Amino acid sequence: MIHNSIIDAIGNTPLVKLNRLTENLDAEVTVKVEYLNPGQSVKDRIAVKMIDDAENAGLIKPGGTIIEGTSGNTGMGLALVAAVRGYKCVFTTTDKQSMEKVNLLRALGATVEICPTNVEPDDPRSYYSVAKRLSEEIPNSYYPNQYDNLSNREAHYETTGPEIWNQTDGKITHFVCGIGTGGTITGTARYLKEKNPDVQVIGVDSVGSVYKHYFESGEFSKDEIKPYLTEGIGEDIIPGNVDFDYIDDVVQVNDKNALTTTRELAKHEGLFVGGSCGAAVFGALEYAKREKLGKECLMVVILPDSGTRYISKIYNDQWMKENGFI
Ligand SMILES: Cc1ncc(COP(=O)(O)O)c(C=O)c1O
Repeated sequence: MIHNSIIDAIGNTPLVKLNRLTENLDAEVTVKVEYLNPGQSVKDRIAVKMIDDAENAGLIKPGGTIIEGTSGNTGMGLALVAAVRGYKCVFTTTDKQSMEKVNLLRALGATVEICPTNVEPDDPRSYYSVAKRLSEEIPNSYYPNQYDNLSNREAHYETTGPEIWNQTDGKITHFVCGIGTGGTITGTARYLKEKNPDVQVIGVDSVGSVYKHYFESGEFSKDEIKPYLTEGIGEDIIPGNVDFDYIDDVVQVNDKNALTTTRELAKHEGLFVGGSCGAAVFGALEYAKREKLGKECLMVVILPDSGTRYISKIYNDQWMKENGFI
């Protein structure tokens, strides 16, 4: 089979059983390996869907510029789509992101603006505000806004959900997924719960993010917001793509547990993944132990991206020691 472009190779990622990290568990734990997408992350799925929908709605014209605030992975997906379809890209990101991610975006021809992490989202210097301002200043530009653009969660309703349902022959009992924009968890969960309302959906959040408290109390608390190093999950806002009606439980994972589990996935399972993958797997294993999940349970955990983007951090002993993780 010949694909018309690399865009057609997005999705249909493998579902793989964990073997060694799950030795003391009865439940079967499987992972969906999203780094095998062309842009090496789950975000390729939403990139093509957001641009398809924008083209169909006439929001982006040939030769236009795509502008987005991104921690890197959505940018990578958008840059691939832009390269194939002839758009320009300008991305804003934060100074906590790996240089690997920024360099990758530049390699695909994008312009990247680095903004400070520790400012309020509505501060004019924040990466949200800068992306918004640029989209107003640059003519013939389109700002997909992955946080509030519902094409994000639709992409997962249309692709990730059906793939998981088919790959497990409908036997999935638990779906575990990190919450960043909330697109992956909400879209996938909606599909799975339509097929079987008993599927339990567990969101994984970072210590220092607002989600767990918001899920449990319905209140947005600024007191929860603290700096953390796990990239891609947790927020200091509630994006439009998160719908807690589809989420049954939220577990919070700290950096140390997330990042040491990331290394264990590489060493003991051959899965060379990013830090939010370690968080999701740590959260899944803790949940399985706490709820005493038995042999009849089949968990699916999303692994959003690749370890190549974190060689100077998670896979660097010195960085791990400096941060007290090993
Ligand atoms: C590495 C990584 N993990 C997890 C996520 C979370 O996925 P979502 O935004 O669909 O909630 C993201 C999204 O930015 C990510 O980049």
